Amino acid sequence: MKVLHYLLIGIVSLGTISCTSPNAENEEDTNELITNTKNIETMKFEKVALPYATDALAPVIGKETMELHYGKHHQAYVDNLNKLIVGTEFENADLETIVKKSDGAIFNNAGQTLNHNIYFTSFSPNGGGEPQGKLAEAIDSKFGSFEKFKEEFVAAGLGVFGSGWVWLAKDDKGNLSIEKEPNAGNPLTKGLTPILGLDVWEHSYYLDYQNRRADHLKEVWKILDWEVISKRY
Ligand SMILES: [Fe+2]
Repeated sequence: MKVLHYLLIGIVSLGTISCTSPNAENEEDTNELITNTKNIETMKFEKVALPYATDALAPVIGKETMELHYGKHHQAYVDNLNKLIVGTEFENADLETIVKKSDGAIFNNAGQTLNHNIYFTSFSPNGGGEPQGKLAEAIDSKFGSFEKFKEEFVAAGLGVFGSGWVWLAKDDKGNLSIEKEPNAGNPLTKGLTPILGLDVWEHSYYLDYQNRRADHLKEVWKILDWEVISKRY
């Protein structure tokens, strides 16, 4: 029962993503937010389970991209992390603690493990539309409107030089910000909570869009699962 393992670990150690979220109303919600996926039987990190089929997001993200990105790239980060932490101070740490406190190769692989766990659980074949509730209000308050937020977010994603991530994050008062992060960066390292992260490494879009990152960032809104994303706020 991997889901139960994830739930247990998430309740105990997920910390900033679930336990401090004002909208995490019950355990069922918490389960949807779990990105800190250590299997308590093997004590090894695992990829978050994909909540849709590998071809379900096409044509926005095609099956081949999903198989390589989730199946190969994400798996490699998780496998590397599990190997690298053996015998270190991070051997028994939860994923967010490792991301906050490590550096070098351990940080790169822990960051990418967490980032991709968040990323792959942000989509749905029935996604699109706009956030509702408190996140919608916070976006309107900070950016003026959802459309303005989209413009700023896409511009920030295009402004990441080379490989990295663009994030919507919140501080401990619920104030939103857009954060550009290089490589494996995550807003957790700035004391912020990640709400939405889009991968702008070429491996996330090259097979579907070649070098056209802007086209990818324009299309991806069609598959964002705002029900899940809104619960992170
Ligand atoms: Fe990626």
